[in-house]
Amino acid sequence: MKNQGSALPIENAIEKAIELLQKGEVVAIPTETVYGLAADALNSEAVARLFELKKRPKIDPVIVHCYCASHVFGFVRNLPEPARLLATTYWPGPLTLVLEKKESIPDIVSAGLPFAGFRVPKHPLTLKLIEKLGRPLAAPSANRFGKISPTSAQAVFEEFNHLIPLILDGGPCPVGIESTVISFAHDPPLLLRYGAIPREEIEKRIGPLTLPAPKTAWNLAPGRFPKHYAPSIPVEIISSVSEIPYWKRKNAGLIFWGTEDTTGFKVVKNLSKEKSLIEAAANFFQMLRELDKSSIEKIYALLLPEEGLGEAINERIKKAAGSPSP
Ligand code: TXA
Ligand code: MG
Repeated sequence: MKNQGSALPIENAIEKAIELLQKGEVVAIPTETVYGLAADALNSEAVARLFELKKRPKIDPVIVHCYCASHVFGFVRNLPEPARLLATTYWPGPLTLVLEKKESIPDIVSAGLPFAGFRVPKHPLTLKLIEKLGRPLAAPSANRFGKISPTSAQAVFEEFNHLIPLILDGGPCPVGIESTVISFAHDPPLLLRYGAIPREEIEKRIGPLTLPAPKTAWNLAPGRFPKHYAPSIPVEIISSVSEIPYWKRKNAGLIFWGTEDTTGFKVVKNLSKEKSLIEAAANFFQMLRELDKSSIEKIYALLLPEEGLGEAINERIKKAAGSPSP
């Protein structure tokens, strides 16, 4: 049996996903950011299976996905006003709020912390699935720990085909990079992960955030491990294309945006010719994945401007290169 959601009419695929989730199995789901590997968040054993599949250390908590803000609030013990404001402004959307959880959320979900990450994803199939299931879904990105996040059903299929019974195919992810993660375990709230909603936008609404300290506190959000989103081919950040001599270009790929003279590179990936950060974010993981599949020895990367979504994309480029986050 072909397992991808696309092989089943979508209503049947949702019904099938519900049946599997109720049995404690893991299925892949689409979101607007990246695909997730989902399990019933209230079933510890199912969540343990998730960790196992991803080869993820149990100290790294997973996000709880709900179908609306009030669904989230039912699992939260204490909701600070600024968190409520962000929730009502951005959900459904690419924002994760780390909030004090009620006991109904098992400890394995939050890696033993009293605070769990919550979000309402903006994808009609997944929202329908969660609502019909009537239970929240624990879902990390559908890649092995530390590897490139998947932005299409095909990318999930390549990594987990033999290991999961169903991939709900919701098409390519329109946003393309993960949610911004903000922790209300800190005052002022701590920006745990740069993501699809730019830092400045959030600060305009709730005031200055605490920014992650360089090289420290990786235990706060292990997505902040210095090497993450890693292709198997080494990535090197360069400041201009002209610094790479032609003999080195022959066996190398380049990821950049705009217009550059890319003569001589074996594979070239342009994140956005028009220099749109939204387009660059949507293309980023897919292009990194394609480079990783090419027969090249090295990937050279140019950083984007450090503003808006550029901050989040750059952080992912730096992590792919194995350099510590800002
Ligand atoms: O866009 C997204 O957020 C995607 C889609 C599938 O929703 N999910 C995702 O999950 O990126 P994951 O597990 O790959 O990354 C979640 C990040 C990790 O860095 C994790 O450490 C952090 O959020 N996180 C989750 N719960 C947390 C908590 N209770 N405290 C601190 N950090 C938390
Ligand atoms: Mg991830």
